[in-house]
Amino acid sequence: MFKQILAAVDGSKHAFRALDVAADLARTYGGDLNILSVYRHHSAVENTHSLVRPSAEVPDVDTAMNAYAKEVVARACDYVRDNYGIEAAGYVRRGQPARTIVAAANELECDSIVMGSRGLGDMTGLLLGSVSHKVTSLAECTLVTVK
Ligand SMILES: Nc1ncnc2c1ncn2[C@@H]1O[C@H](COP(=O)(O)OP(=O)(O)OP(=O)(O)O)[C@@H](O)[C@H]1O
Ligand SMILES: [Mg+2]
Repeated sequence: MFKQILAAVDGSKHAFRALDVAADLARTYGGDLNILSVYRHHSAVENTHSLVRPSAEVPDVDTAMNAYAKEVVARACDYVRDNYGIEAAGYVRRGQPARTIVAAANELECDSIVMGSRGLGDMTGLLLGSVSHKVTSLAECTLVTVK
């Protein structure tokens, strides 16, 4: 267990706390650390009930979201290198976050996913955000949800 760890990050303070736990587990158990950020397909309105769908793709938006996710992953990799001396493998994927996190964990043959209980969302009072809630039910491996 904890030989191949996937940390899911969104740039939030919760995700950085999750990185602390993931790095600690990697160090303690001699595991590899993979860090993933998922950005949404900008025209995807899956999981909403919107009747309006963009009629055309706006490539600049996609490029910007991709660049932001890359930055989030780069900062996370720097963080674990600077604080724990760990060289993590960084990944950026596009898609629906929860499903994409679980698919990446399966594809990378991870035995565990580490993520924050909450993220960038500002719905105070919630115990879990929607991404951590969905990953909890979809994950096929051990899930560590960090508070
Ligand atoms: N796009 C993403 N890519 C990778 N990991 C993510 C992404 N979004 C969230 N996470 C992970 O899930 C954790 C919980 O975030 P989540 O989005 O569920 O909570 P929230 O932002 O507070 O709520 P919501 O997004 O539903 O408003 C984060 O700390 C992070 O570890
Ligand atoms: Mg969120």
